[in-house]
Parts: sequence; structure tokens; C-alpha cells
Amino acid sequence: MVPVSILVVCVISLSWVILTDHAQGLGVNWGGMTSHPLDPTSVVKMLKDNGIKKVKLFDAEPDTMNALAGSGISVVVGIPNDKLASLSSSYKHAQEWVKENITKYDHNGGVDISYVAVGNEPFLTSYNGSFVKTTFPAMRNIQKALDEAGTRHKIKAIVPFNADVYEAASGKPSHGQFRKDIKSEMLKILGLLKSNKSPFFVNIYPFLSLQQSSDFPKEFAFFDGTSKPVRDNNNEYDNVFDANHDTLIWSLKKVGYQDLEIVIGEAGWPTDGDKNANKILAKKFYDGLLKKLAKGDGTPLRKGYLEVYLFGLTDEDLKSIAPGDFERHWGILGYDGQPKFPMDLTGKGNDKLLKAVQGVQYMDKKWCVLNNDVRNATLLQFELNYACSQTDCTSLKNGSSCDLDLPGKVSFAFNSYFQSRDQDVRTCDFNGKAKITTDNPSKGSCVFNIQIYSAGVKHQVTCALSIFAGLALMSFLH
Ligand SMILES: *[C@@H]1O[C@H](CO)[C@@H](O)[C@H](O)[C@H]1NC(C)=O
Ligand SMILES: *[C@@H]1O[C@H](CO)[C@@H](O)[C@H](O)[C@H]1NC(C)=O
Ligand SMILES: *[C@@H]1O[C@H](CO)[C@@H](O)[C@H](O)[C@H]1NC(C)=O
Ligand SMILES: *[C@@H]1O[C@H](CO)[C@@H](O)[C@H](O)[C@H]1NC(C)=O
Repeated sequence: MVPVSILVVCVISLSWVILTDHAQGLGVNWGGMTSHPLDPTSVVKMLKDNGIKKVKLFDAEPDTMNALAGSGISVVVGIPNDKLASLSSSYKHAQEWVKENITKYDHNGGVDISYVAVGNEPFLTSYNGSFVKTTFPAMRNIQKALDEAGTRHKIKAIVPFNADVYEAASGKPSHGQFRKDIKSEMLKILGLLKSNKSPFFVNIYPFLSLQQSSDFPKEFAFFDGTSKPVRDNNNEYDNVFDANHDTLIWSLKKVGYQDLEIVIGEAGWPTDGDKNANKILAKKFYDGLLKKLAKGDGTPLRKGYLEVYLFGLTDEDLKSIAPGDFERHWGILGYDGQPKFPMDLTGKGNDKLLKAVQGVQYMDKKWCVLNNDVRNATLLQFELNYACSQTDCTSLKNGSSCDLDLPGKVSFAFNSYFQSRDQDVRTCDFNGKAKITTDNPSKGSCVFNIQIYSAGVKHQVTCALSIFAGLALMSFLH
């Protein structure tokens, strides 16, 4: 008996060592801006099925946290930007946040929390400085509250930054420096990161470099080499990912923080909503990135292991499209938890489809389309605009997956609206111009979706059932 129990203890402590080693393995960002969320327990199972050992969240939603409990998956918990003001002005709020969202889960069999991400890209220029003054004080309060709460192993507060916190006028990494308008706040944050031995989280998006500049050389966004590399001192850069990463290193170096560890908090490629957003280019980007990570050669200025969280897990139909229509199409899985294209997360090039989320239930095989009788385009524009103002039409713009004539676009918009309203027959009318069909109207790359039953809906049903059961039991007992 004794040897067996020793063995068990050994296995447990060994797995503990493995579980608490945050350093290795690919991570994925798990966002929740979806109208029909997948069941979190099924998502966690899918993560494990695919060997994904780390996730990064944007909040601390209890169903998600509970699903992650006991999974052995290492978790970055997030604090949304709109909480920064209250957390910066009140230490008590920070203590309450830590108590409710960290301490509660920080026990054996609980959630293996690695970092707390304070805000999300709070210094983005498009926020006009709204969060610049509150980020550091909020982070300081959260770290203090974490330390005071005495977590099992040290949980570190970090800030996930967008790559536009630094710039290099000429495109040469050695010209990198932090943006002037945020530099003084950045220095305070760097000081705290250093004293806690915490990493600098940065989001690097070659797709955005390509999308935002018409003369950006396309091959520089990928990892297959280029005939015109950027030469910088003794280094040569043949992809923008490395160049961007090393621009950060130079920026850190110039203010005396070159020793900070760097984690890529987000990296990925969208599959729709832009002429460069499609499955072929996304696959090309991921293939290159994953192979690079597997080789472990790092970047010219920093050799070795690179810690990366892919963005993101699934498409999110409620994301703001202010930056572009592609925003809702970043998933390596679709809205329904199905893989979009083959990939090999280990970077060995053995491409196959990722394991899908199991147990997803689709609604009926019904679509809402334009009634054939309507042929006057002028009359359709109003309905098209209305439907698209109420639902997701990001696959319709020029260069996206749905290259359709006006009647086709109208059908797509009608269906998108109908599915988003859970196939309610009253939402397939449009002044008599719409009809329900059981013939799949999808054409080529343009997929007319069928909605899924969301975890929330199923949950309500279960609750209702248990209330019924409870009532029945009570009347029986009386
Ligand atoms: C904990 O996190 C959840 C989800 O992000 C949030 O709704 C809640 O307000 C947080 N708790 C506190 C005390 O701030
Ligand atoms: C930032 O300023 C611009 C221009 O003044 C404005 O259009 C935009 O709505 C502002 N954004 C935020 C988040 O305040
Ligand atoms: C289409 O509808 C508009 C608005 O009612 C009308 O002015 C136009 O004459 C119609 N066009 C045709 C070809 O019927
Ligand atoms: C759509 O894109 C194609 C090729 O990119 C271009 O030739 C065409 O003019 C565009 N159409 C519109 C309406 O912008």
C-alpha cells in the first residue's frame, strides 16, 4: 500500500509542477462578445482535446471561471477598461474585485490563475487618452490587493498593450520609442512590472499593418521570407512580427527596461470582412507563426522561446466593427465552435482540423430569404439597410466572403436578422418581402448561417425544469 500512495503523491506533485509552469505552451484568447455563447464546459473540454494549456480572458465571468476550475488550464483573468476608473480611485474596490474574482477561485481544484490583465489595450490612440491616467493606479491597487490576499503562488498584475504604444518613424526597430503622450505613465507601469518580475504583454498584428497601409509589402506580413528585408544595424528582418517585437525591445532599452520578459498577448489573422481576411491567408499566417514558435529561435534581438496567445478562439458577432468589418471574424473556430481550416498547434506541420466544440445544438434547417416576387432594387435598399443595422452583415462588403448581387445581399441580411432572432417567424416578414425556405441558399464561400442554441438558453431551460421539479416535490410533500 505504502509505495502506491507514495506513487500517487509523486504523480500529484509532478502534475502540480507541470500545471503551475506558466512558461511553456501555446495560449488562446477566449472572448465573450457573442450573442449565442457556447457552453463554457464544452469549450474547456475542446481546449483540452486540442492540447491548449493556457487561455486569456477579458473579464472574470463566473460560468467561464467555474468551467475552467480543475481543468489544469492556466488562466489570465481580465479587467475591462470601464472598471479602471473605480479601481484606480478606490483600493477598497480593488480588494473587492480580487476577493470576488480571484480569491474565490484560488484553491486546490480551483482555477490556475497566472496573471490579472488590468484593462485591455488602454492606451490605444482611438480612446483619446480616456484610460491613460487610470491604468497605472488601477494596476498598482490590484497588485497590492493580490499580494495582500496571499494567493497560492504569486499572481501578477499586467497590462495588455497594443503595439501602437511604441513607434519607429523609419520602420527600423532601432528607432523604436514609446509614444510621447503616454511615456510618463508607461514608465510607472514598467517600474511596477520590473519590481514584480512581471512580463510586458503586447498585441502584435501583421494583418493590421497590411490592412492599414496600401503600400505595405504583403510578404512582410507572413513568415516565408522576402526579397527586400529591413536591415537594421547588424540585423535583418524578413517579417513584420519580428520587426515589431524588436521595436518594443529597443523602446524598452531606451528607458532602461530591456530585461523585461515579453509575452505576445494577441496574435492572429481574421477570415472575413476585408480583402486580406480569408481562410487561405489566415492559414498561411498561422502555419508560419506556429512553425516559428516550434523552432524556438525567437527574434533577431531575443533568441529562444516566445510566449504567445492566439486571437482568438471563436468569431464574436457582437464585437464593435469601428476598426473594420473583420473584427467579428478572428476565431480559429467559427461562432458554432467548428474549426475553420486545418492547422497544427504544435508547429510540426501535421495539419488537420482542430477538434470542434462538442454538443452544439443547431436550430432547424431553415433560412429567411427574399421573396422572389420582389424585383425593384430601390424598394429593397430600405429593408437591406434596416436588417444590416440590426444584425451582422460583415460578410457582405466588397472583398468579403459574400460576393452577391443586390437580391442576394438582401437575402443574406434577412437571414442574418432571422437567425439572430432565433428563427422567430415574425422576424422573417420585412413588409411581405421575405419568406422562409428549407433550401440552403449558401453559395460558394458565402455561407448562410443557421443559429445555435446558446448556452444561456439551455441554462434557462434547465433552471425552469429544476424549479418545476422543486415545485412538484413540494406539492408531493404537502
Ligand atoms: C468580478 O468580475 C465580474 C466579471 O468580470 C464583474 O461583473 C464583477 O463586477 C467583478 N466583481 C467586483 C467586485 O468588481
Ligand atoms: C475620440 O475622438 C474622435 C475625434 O474627436 C471621436 O470621433 C471619437 O468618438 C473619440 N473616441 C472616444 C472613444 O472618445
Ligand atoms: C421602384 O420603386 C420606387 C419607389 O417606390 C419607384 O419610384 C420606382 O418607379 C420603382 N421602379 C420600378 C422599375 O418599378
Ligand atoms: C470591389 O473590389 C474590386 C476588386 O478589389 C474592385 O474592382 C471593385 O471596383 C470594388 N467594388 C466596389 C463597389 O467598391
